[in-house]
Amino acid sequence: MIQSTSPTHKRGLWSSRLGFIMASAGSAIGLGNIWKFPYITGMHGGGAFVLFFIFCIVTVGIPLMIAEMIIGRHTRKDPVGAFRKLNQGRWVLAGWLGIIAGFLILSYYCVIAGWAVNYLWLALQGTFTPEHAAKVPQLFTGLLASDVRQLFWQAVFMGMTVFIVIGGVKSGLERANKIMMPVLFMILVILATMGLRSPGGTTALSFLFSPDWSKLDPPAMLEALGHAFFSLSLGMGAMLTYGSYAEEKTSIPNVAVTVCFMDTLVALLSGLAIFPIVFTYGMEPAAGPGLVFKTLPILFSQMPGGVLIAVLFFLLLVFAALTSSISLLEVVVAYYCDENKWGRKKATLIMGGIIFLVGVPSALSNSMLKDLHFIGGRNFLDSIDFLCTNYILPLGGLFIAIFTGWALTRGLAKGELEKGAVRFHLYPAWHFLIKYVSPVLVALVFLNKAGFF
Ligand code: PFF
Repeated sequence: MIQSTSPTHKRGLWSSRLGFIMASAGSAIGLGNIWKFPYITGMHGGGAFVLFFIFCIVTVGIPLMIAEMIIGRHTRKDPVGAFRKLNQGRWVLAGWLGIIAGFLILSYYCVIAGWAVNYLWLALQGTFTPEHAAKVPQLFTGLLASDVRQLFWQAVFMGMTVFIVIGGVKSGLERANKIMMPVLFMILVILATMGLRSPGGTTALSFLFSPDWSKLDPPAMLEALGHAFFSLSLGMGAMLTYGSYAEEKTSIPNVAVTVCFMDTLVALLSGLAIFPIVFTYGMEPAAGPGLVFKTLPILFSQMPGGVLIAVLFFLLLVFAALTSSISLLEVVVAYYCDENKWGRKKATLIMGGIIFLVGVPSALSNSMLKDLHFIGGRNFLDSIDFLCTNYILPLGGLFIAIFTGWALTRGLAKGELEKGAVRFHLYPAWHFLIKYVSPVLVALVFLNKAGFF
């Protein structure tokens, strides 16, 4: 049996398989599922995009999640330390890319999650009622135009993230996930059931599931692949870090498949909660990033019981965001604790503070900095998101896939995969996917994007 070589007790472990699943599903299920998946699906025309997204999850997502988790558990290290330990530094770049991605993604993630906390606050005050309906459309524009409000809510959200991460693996991360994830599922099932029973339910179903392949152009494919990475928290070592806290007896393929299934289910359920409302009220599904902050609140304020539904929806959004943001911060904190031997509290406070500051331009990107345009005319926040989702995560994933498929020995991989006394009969299929299919798919999408064919 392969022994882990660093003392696990110092780093912390999940208390059980369930704790590991909840935490990893918590990381995967986030703004990506509830805020982003519905709006990009809307923009790319529905069904065909959804099916290609699921194809990416099965062929690239699941194999890669397994790969990250086995590397993490085998080395019991942060992403940089893990690659250093396995390959004397040659692949450390992949780990570094992960830490940088964690930094960058969390910086703007807190801004968007801050909007969600603000909306939860507004919903709790009963803002989304018919009497206020006329004012609702301006709420989002007003929020985006206000530097102070955005910075305030960004800080509140970062404060919540730091608070949980300081608590450590078991009493911070695991406990928070075990409380928030079941609530999140319950709310989502209630909202999706209501959606399906509403007049727009059938239109939403056919929008989400009947493919019009002519809409699946190369930009849509790149977006679907990038989103599979983002949504499953892959390509930056988050699952590697969570894997490093897994018990020896847990079967990793089992956990990875469960997490990918849960993540896809939540994305689809979010679509089933949101699109029926959009169609019932005859709104535009391609409303873009404003879909859940602009379009939905207008509808909440017009529908019966909308106040309660708004509270539930934004609570769902905040919980989903929080269970993901803690994993983003954990990647960075794990690096400073493992490699620089910092204490958890010091690493969390300092890095939380720095990442907040890095996020300030994102918070101001719709107000003070609105005239600054970067990639393809996007503002600062959207540019960083575009860069991370479409390039850094897939590139990180490409490295990890190549490393696992070509550099990791069969004995090591198979040993990790079969811990927990579960024979992994699908080893040849997994190895084929991680060695050939994942790298080729990612490379093809990159080359296509770069205009090679
Ligand atoms: N998976 C999260 C979401 O869908 O919102 C975002 C995310 C979290 C990406 C953690 C990457 C990561 F490491």
